[in-house]
Amino acid sequence: MTAAAASTLVTGIGELVTCDGTGPDRLGIRRDAALVVDDGRIAWLGPSRSAPDADRSVDLAGRAVLPGFVDSHSHLVFAGDRAAEFAARMAGQPYDGGGIGVSVAATREAGDDELRALVAGRVAEMRAQGTTTVEIKGGYGLTVDDEARSLRIAREFTTETTYLGAHVVPAEYAADRAAYLDLVTGPMLAATAPHARWADVFCEPRSAHAFTAEEARVVLLAARGAGLELRVHGNQLGPGPGVQLAVELGAASVDHCTYLSAADVEALASAAGATVATLLPGVEFSTRSPYPDGRRLLDAGVSIALATDCNPGTCYSSSMPFVVALAVREMGLTPAEAVYAATAGSALSLRRSDIGRIEVGARADLAVLDAPSHLHLAYRAGVPIARALDLPATSSTSSTSSTSSTS
Ligand code: NIG
Ligand code: FE
Repeated sequence: MTAAAASTLVTGIGELVTCDGTGPDRLGIRRDAALVVDDGRIAWLGPSRSAPDADRSVDLAGRAVLPGFVDSHSHLVFAGDRAAEFAARMAGQPYDGGGIGVSVAATREAGDDELRALVAGRVAEMRAQGTTTVEIKGGYGLTVDDEARSLRIAREFTTETTYLGAHVVPAEYAADRAAYLDLVTGPMLAATAPHARWADVFCEPRSAHAFTAEEARVVLLAARGAGLELRVHGNQLGPGPGVQLAVELGAASVDHCTYLSAADVEALASAAGATVATLLPGVEFSTRSPYPDGRRLLDAGVSIALATDCNPGTCYSSSMPFVVALAVREMGLTPAEAVYAATAGSALSLRRSDIGRIEVGARADLAVLDAPSHLHLAYRAGVPIARALDLPATSSTSSTSSTSSTS
């Protein structure tokens, strides 16, 4: 039997972080606020003393509520891991993208159900840490069939799916890059486009495995011709052409932005609101690299987002709270700026206005903290205080004490 949709009044919110863009820090914080959720949307928001009746209520006992995190960059469809590569890096080995081939081999070997279960586990891990929207890329299949099934499986979990046939040139095409580009812009694109919203490319001339600006342009233009919207991996391993290409082509996001010239920052600032710089500090943590200068970007007026990049090579962490803490500790962001970038900023990078903020009509994708304020996300780094708020599905009244879970 399916439960009838019922409205839920959420009370006892210690701090409601709406991320609606208002206030000096854009967090639009409200105190003594309540919410009504109906049919998966925010139906009402206002002072708790004037809250309307609802079918049931949930008392959060003083916890902070914020928009669920929007993890706008992840590579969750892979088998195996590369823990040994991580250990080698911690001992001084640089990252060059070559390890991607190890994950490609393991992913091709995996059965569909195995791959699906791996993705499901990773999505559940994210939700348990407060993430309610995730973008998922392919890129560990690199054959027509393996990329198509990667995106088919990703689509079971999110509408934000990204074609990344141009992740690296696989070993079997190393001597004929042009033939691989023909595959990526031809049959592989045709087979994946029905399952993808976005296309991405690892534009990094410093890596022998990744793609030059000229190659990336060919891939992105073909993808756009097939109806996909654009994202770019750029400027990760050193200064490079990714940012300029992304801005020129009107990509929604250029991700990593670790090494930027003054001209790159200027280009991103002039593209504010259209092309977002998505920062992935878990990668710098996991590759022992310098962190991107988030402060410089914000001060220049660039639109920024934060995401995990969860993948087996450069960051096998699914934790948005970890990313927020790194952004505050290592990239010069205030806690408020980091929270905004991880919610509304990431939503902008996905060109979504129904997530990443708490306002009437938005999706009721909420995160709750076992803490009174968003400040605790960075302050209590490594402590599992954040989770997605699961509202009960059937009519009843429930309450949550200050120590028990809401789900
Ligand atoms: O975003 N840079 C390219 N792709 C991933 C890493 C993939 C891997 O090493 O497996 C990234 O860092
Ligand atoms: Fe990535």
